[in-house]
Amino acid sequence: MNAFSRLAAVVSLASLFPLAALAGEVEVLHWWTSGGEKRAADTLKKLVEEKGHTWKDFAVAGGGGEAAMTVLKTRAVSGNPPSAAQIKGPDIQEWGELGLLAELDEVADEGKWDTLLPKQVANVMKYDGHYVAVPVNVHRVNWLWINPEVFKKAGATPPTSLDEFFAAADKLKAAGFIPIAHGGQPWQDGTVFEDLVFSILGPLGYHKAFVEQDKATLTSDKMVEVFATLKKLRGYIDADAAGRDWNSATGLLIDGKAGMQLMGDWAKSEWSAAGKVAGKDYQCLPFPGTQGSFAYNIDSLAMFKLSDEDDRKAQNDLARTVMDPQFQQFFNQNKGSIPVRLDQDMSSFDTCAQQSMKDFKEAAAGDGLQPSLAHGMAASSYVQGAVFDVVTNFFNDPAADPKKAVQQLAAAIAAVQ
Ligand code: BGC
Repeated sequence: MNAFSRLAAVVSLASLFPLAALAGEVEVLHWWTSGGEKRAADTLKKLVEEKGHTWKDFAVAGGGGEAAMTVLKTRAVSGNPPSAAQIKGPDIQEWGELGLLAELDEVADEGKWDTLLPKQVANVMKYDGHYVAVPVNVHRVNWLWINPEVFKKAGATPPTSLDEFFAAADKLKAAGFIPIAHGGQPWQDGTVFEDLVFSILGPLGYHKAFVEQDKATLTSDKMVEVFATLKKLRGYIDADAAGRDWNSATGLLIDGKAGMQLMGDWAKSEWSAAGKVAGKDYQCLPFPGTQGSFAYNIDSLAMFKLSDEDDRKAQNDLARTVMDPQFQQFFNQNKGSIPVRLDQDMSSFDTCAQQSMKDFKEAAAGDGLQPSLAHGMAASSYVQGAVFDVVTNFFNDPAADPKKAVQQLAAAIAAVQ
């Protein structure tokens, strides 16, 4: 075979396998490992595979993603990062500064991301003016989940204020239910704490505490009240809460053993996976005292620089897929979140998602839209870790003093600023 016919053979083979010729591999690090989360992650895998690429799943279990971030750092330090990783909020800037992230501007221009995304979301995805991450969804953290059947049996009323919340908890307790399903893990303690700060300090006080990290706010009487309320709330969780995963806590509600859970709307993924219907089998209420406000948590996939051309194409296809309206619908209906595109048709979403979208838009028009601290949106992972340490120590120590806790909070944050 001469050189020409060899080339012709290669060319005709390539035309027989056009997908294989363009196919690459995407390795995606994430922590979507509960039953409901996995169903959502599988929708992305399927769409990427339909484009002819290979999906290499890099799932690291552990709610809130702390374990996943530790594994990611090890892989990046050894010079072998995955193609994409679930990196969120201000952390994207830190990875960008290391020079490890790939630019997605071409895909973003072609897909008109600047027009489709809320500005606040687009800015978080950019490092030095260039897109380096693609947003997947918008989660709302300040939700209270309720099993209405359990409430009915206990004669409890869905609460709209903190007083009503504790009144409902008393009724649930008296009727022999676990009033509040909780998992004693630092990020879950932090999620509950954040809800209380949002409720007691309001959105502007919340902003001052977590985004500005203002010392006077962190040590204020209102913050003392937050810790005192956290202590009170501790009396309504069961003795087996230590170390429990968030989805097992949701399971206690689904099984009719507990009445309420304070959790972001990824909890809905478990209800959906169990075939339960929003508004009928379960209720989502804005956490008492935070009605009209929205603590946001945006999942995003940041892209790492790759040397292989085909893998780079696969990476771009992954980014295109994430912004696709069909993916936004399938994924978010399984994940419990709302789409990140402003033009998305919400008619096929359930009542909780529709309320979330409405509240998101209204909160964004005023001061009510605030970044979640417990989910890496408000501050660096160092500040987040400092808050978790103080809150978890307080939560686990029945003798802890709210007045001392606020001083410890301010000191712990100052030490990592
Ligand atoms: C992530 C969600 C995830 C949840 C539980 C949050 O920080 O943003 O995507 O479902 O943790 O692991």
